[in-house]
Amino acid sequence: MVDVILGLQWGDEGKGKIVDYFAPNYDVVARFQGGPNAGHTLYVNGKKIVLHQIPSGIFHQDKINLIGNGVVLDPVTLKRECDAVAAFGIDVRKNLYISQRTNLIVPTHRALDKASEQSKGDGKIGSTLKGIGPAYMDKTGRNALRVGDLLDKNFTTQYIKLRLKHQRLLDNSHFIEDISAWEEEFFEALEFLRTLNIVNGEYFINEQIAKGKKILAEGAQGTMLDIDFGTFPFVTSSNTISAGVCTGLGIAPQKINDVLGVSKAYCTRVGSGPFPTELHDATGEELRKLGSEFGATTGRPRRCGWIDLVALKYTCMVNGVTKIVMTKADVLDSFDTLHMATAYQIHGNTVQEVPYQMNKLPIEPVYQAFAGWKCDTTTIQQPDNMPQEMKQYIAFINNYLQTPIAYVSNGPGRDQIISL
Ligand code: GDP
Ligand code: IMO
Ligand code: MG
Repeated sequence: MVDVILGLQWGDEGKGKIVDYFAPNYDVVARFQGGPNAGHTLYVNGKKIVLHQIPSGIFHQDKINLIGNGVVLDPVTLKRECDAVAAFGIDVRKNLYISQRTNLIVPTHRALDKASEQSKGDGKIGSTLKGIGPAYMDKTGRNALRVGDLLDKNFTTQYIKLRLKHQRLLDNSHFIEDISAWEEEFFEALEFLRTLNIVNGEYFINEQIAKGKKILAEGAQGTMLDIDFGTFPFVTSSNTISAGVCTGLGIAPQKINDVLGVSKAYCTRVGSGPFPTELHDATGEELRKLGSEFGATTGRPRRCGWIDLVALKYTCMVNGVTKIVMTKADVLDSFDTLHMATAYQIHGNTVQEVPYQMNKLPIEPVYQAFAGWKCDTTTIQQPDNMPQEMKQYIAFINNYLQTPIAYVSNGPGRDQIISL
């Protein structure tokens, strides 16, 4: 049986915290897509840690953590992160497993990412520059190196071949940065990677399922960044939706049970691209300040705005969301009035669908106003103790989405969550 936790907006919904919270109920936590573009923040013993490659179940010693075939893996980031979790007493050789089909991010992927963004000028995606796009291009282009190749004696020859191909592309883009230091740390990190548990991921996970073990699939990014269903071309390069769990781990669709969609009580986006409910005013600033909205991977300020129910209804649909986890509700504690977008006005028409190309249309959100609750909610544990205005805010969303908010997160801490 497999449950999924994934993002319903443009990433950074608080997936890491929620996975860490639910991990005790599962035997395996598995990442199925994305790479070090992800930044999942957890608090362990009161200390903050941001995970990029390792699944967010790693701090639960008796749980298996699997990096699935759908992930793109940067060995340098992985090694750094393994060192960071070791400082918490975690031995990754005991509870971290990596699929041999997982594709590798090589240093020239990062260089190509940078060159691609530079060539786009004002039209840049706002990539995290971790090499994600180029790595997935080599996967679908059938050129990639995979973790299993590390065990092949011809690995270096394969690497040089790929490196030369990339160098030609970089020369065409007039990219002249010296990346030899990146390569040095890459080869060092490969030695480390070779010592970890490399498994046949699809057999590994299906055997766990056959034994009756419970699997939690951890999404990265968010549905509005999905390569097919997001705000293309301002998206990432993987399928972030629930269907990605099947291809990213090698499991069948009927094995998927609950799909928990994580959404903030408002909305943020980092990087370029359309964001209809974005606030360019003092309220947007206030959300950024109160929500500490700065990227966990790049430190960039996140763009902030009101919750967008049109987009959320769409993301619930494409994922088959069964339950919603609403995070960062406490960030709204001090606002007099809150707003939700319930429709879009496009060329004088009111629509409730996400259009094909948001970035090419003048979208005016239609807002409904709600009274704020104006009290500190961060210590609430029981749903009955939630302020009336918060209950009304939640009831409206439940009704609009026809999908229940089952949990409300009211602070970054592990125990700050209300089960409804
Ligand atoms: P992820 O990428 O979806 O895992 O989310 P990030 O870690 O990038 O960003 C979420 C940020 O919000 C982190 O700094 C979390 O510590 C924080 N956070 C998560 N849930 C809550 C919450 O309910 N309230 C508040 N105030 N912060 C939260
Ligand atoms: P988590 O898992 C928020 C955004 C980037 C950029 C676009 C493409 O922490 O929610 P990429 O590096 O994939 O080429 O960038 O996607 N992006 C994210 N935004 N959270 C993330 O991950 C993101 N991963 C990528 O900012 O706009
Ligand atoms: Mg993040």
